[in-house]
Amino acid sequence: MSPEIIADKPENLPALFARRCEQEARRVVSARGRFALALPGGSAATALLPALAAARVDFTRTEFFWGDERAVAADDPESNFGLARRLLLEPAGVPQERLHRMPADGPDAEQAAEAYAAELERVLGRPARLDLVLLGVGPDGHVASLFPGHAALRESARLVVAVHDSPKPPARRLTLTLPVLAGAALVVVAAWGGAKATMLREALEHEGSTLPVALVARRASRALFLLDPAAAGRLRARRP
Ligand code: 6PG
Repeated sequence: MSPEIIADKPENLPALFARRCEQEARRVVSARGRFALALPGGSAATALLPALAAARVDFTRTEFFWGDERAVAADDPESNFGLARRLLLEPAGVPQERLHRMPADGPDAEQAAEAYAAELERVLGRPARLDLVLLGVGPDGHVASLFPGHAALRESARLVVAVHDSPKPPARRLTLTLPVLAGAALVVVAAWGGAKATMLREALEHEGSTLPVALVARRASRALFLLDPAAAGRLRARRP
């Protein structure tokens, strides 16, 4: 299915995201009793998580995972978990037992990746399917810590892999793999700024694009792009 694309003023995107989360959570919780999502780092987290904190979502039934995490402690300014804790988890009073932090700062990255994969399957069952994945996207088209041409992007069996040479610092990370990201019921990609406009045009309008964000969007059962006008500025087929 082709992605839904919403281009709107930056100040409108958080409420759009919060409303969509409310819809998804209401539907999924009524069907299965719980809602599982994965969060990013970067500007998508900074811009959208405060709105999610105020959304009408039952956080006692929401399982929080991460799409990727840097190899830093939770209280490090670089931590994606720490960013979410400040903007969403604490303000919304999310119960501790609903938090599944990626242990990227552990001594053995490979073992941590396997442990996180086991946690995903313990909570979500097999196959581990997330209900919603929120992703930012880099100017190079990377999502989570899956970078263009990187071996991690080609991983098709494991759910979580360690990255030791991320082009975006810090170098060491854990990341969900493409099958997990694209396997989510809904993938939401959020981007701002003209620096991403050319990349987004390739990802959304070139069928054969191998950019990570294009691979996720094409394989996802449902994908929604939330873009400000600058990020959407080079898209030919402007949706209403
Ligand atoms: C991370 C993020 C990463 C981020 C992109 C886009 O840990 O860095 O999860 O995937 O979403 O790099 O970041 P910006 O939106 O800040 O450009």
